[in-house]
Amino acid sequence: MGHIFLIGFMGSGKSSVGKGLSERMGRPLLDTDHMIEEMAKKPISRIFSEEGEAHFRELETKVLKELPTERGFVISCGGGMALKEENVRLMKEKGKVVFLQATPETILNRVKSSNKRPILEGNKNIPFISELMEKRVPFYNKASDMEVIVDDKSILEICDEILSGLTY
Ligand code: S3P
Repeated sequence: MGHIFLIGFMGSGKSSVGKGLSERMGRPLLDTDHMIEEMAKKPISRIFSEEGEAHFRELETKVLKELPTERGFVISCGGGMALKEENVRLMKEKGKVVFLQATPETILNRVKSSNKRPILEGNKNIPFISELMEKRVPFYNKASDMEVIVDDKSILEICDEILSGLTY
């Protein structure tokens, strides 16, 4: 089996679930946001403010193209990764895609104390999150091989569900 890509809205738990899965499976973990920050040598908020979102989106594709191939990794993706057709094609080519789905309420709870997400700055409220989520869910659905509802579940439970649901 290739890589396991975790996709879903900001705050859906991709990083925490990624960490749990990587420990459970004994696979190394990669995080596309971190890889981009290393590549650009600056935090995501500065990439957005200095180069713009379009440039950040190009870096997301670049990261997918340059993923290591020597073994399967668990890869936690930025919340916008599945929006571009090329990215979806690359992920499907290189592994399985798991969509972590959460309600806007769960998302708001998880993102409210962080200021690392430019798209949510000044927008940490249910109407904004719901509207953006409605636009994105069709993309997440289309990109994914498997979907897990994460509301009110522990990391352990979510990992169990992914491990029993993924076909190798
Ligand atoms: C984004 C999600 C962020 C990060 C960037 C854009 C998005 O990642 O890639 O701020 O468009 O949904 P997380 O989903 O890890 O917060």
